Amino acid sequence: MQKILVTGGLGYIGSHTVVELQNTGFEVVIIDDLSNSSKEVLSRITSITGIKPDFEEIDLKNKQAVEQFFKNYSIDGVIHFAASKAVGESVNEPLKYYENNITTLTYVLKEMIANQVPNFIFSSSCTVYGQADELPITENAPTKPAESPYGATKKMGEIIIEDTTKVTALKAIALRYFNPIGAHETAKIGELPLGVPQNLVPFVVQTAAGIRECLSVFGDDYNTPDGTAVRDYIHVVDLAKAHIIALNRLLKNKNKAKCEFFNIGTGKGSSVLDVINAFEKATNKKVNYKIVDRRAGDVTSAYADTSLANNELGWKAELGLEEALASSWKWQESLK
Ligand code: WQD
Repeated sequence: MQKILVTGGLGYIGSHTVVELQNTGFEVVIIDDLSNSSKEVLSRITSITGIKPDFEEIDLKNKQAVEQFFKNYSIDGVIHFAASKAVGESVNEPLKYYENNITTLTYVLKEMIANQVPNFIFSSSCTVYGQADELPITENAPTKPAESPYGATKKMGEIIIEDTTKVTALKAIALRYFNPIGAHETAKIGELPLGVPQNLVPFVVQTAAGIRECLSVFGDDYNTPDGTAVRDYIHVVDLAKAHIIALNRLLKNKNKAKCEFFNIGTGKGSSVLDVINAFEKATNKKVNYKIVDRRAGDVTSAYADTSLANNELGWKAELGLEEALASSWKWQESLK
């Protein structure tokens, strides 16, 4: 049975990916530093799949600990989620982001190469495109100057990985996520936002639950059908499944380049008001909101051209917006 390291595997997308890895017959070892996750997620994953992943509480900034890990475990591939990901926080604490997202990436890559582990899946983001000139966004769209240090670490991460694949045995696939939302159907794992949610859907859900007084809609004067900004909201389970397909592509040497990039989205754009309406329809819950000024750094519209992932990976999003929002609500209800 092949063993896969999932860094950040107790996090939102990481935990859903661990479930799908186990469901498809992989052995999993998780590294997580618990800085933005809870160890309880380990038992929740186990309760879903019936299989307890190995777990090592390691801070990837500890170079010696990373070296020791690769001596202790024989690994066939790595899916790398571990990173700080709060856009706003990254503006105020750039060095925290460059250290935690970039230095750690170099430690993991160095140990993979030193230990002949060639298969690497990288958690990237549509944020590398900034406001794309053409929509839907293809993988050939030019990457734009990052709007935040967080976005810069995704762009830099891709460059570091691609450069490394050129001169080592490393093979990599970077998955450029659009906007992950939703939760596992069991409502045993989901997005655990710490503090006031920065992202739209957790805020919508907490407003409907009465935890937040009112949702602020950041601007209704964009050049979009209803004036609110448009994004491509993808169910986290569809996103998790894309990682398994990408991993198998590398394990079976089906990749057509040493480093490949794929947009992972639904291909459909939804505005903020679309999300609110879809949530209310899916849950029969009311969302109290008000229109306020735009948020700095937001792009008007971003949604994926997914034809490369569809045709090359054979992956396609199967779950729609209302289903994803209903699963977010079921997850929120489970937190009571
Ligand atoms: C979506 C839309 C907001 C909150 C970011 C990162 C991306 C990824 C996902 C990490 C925007 C509007 C939001 C609110 C609102 N992060 N909004 N009121 O900014 O598209 O993407 O999160 O991997 O890399 O860039 O996501 O959910 O913050 O915002 O009106 O309280 O909802 O203006 O139009 P975003 P988001």
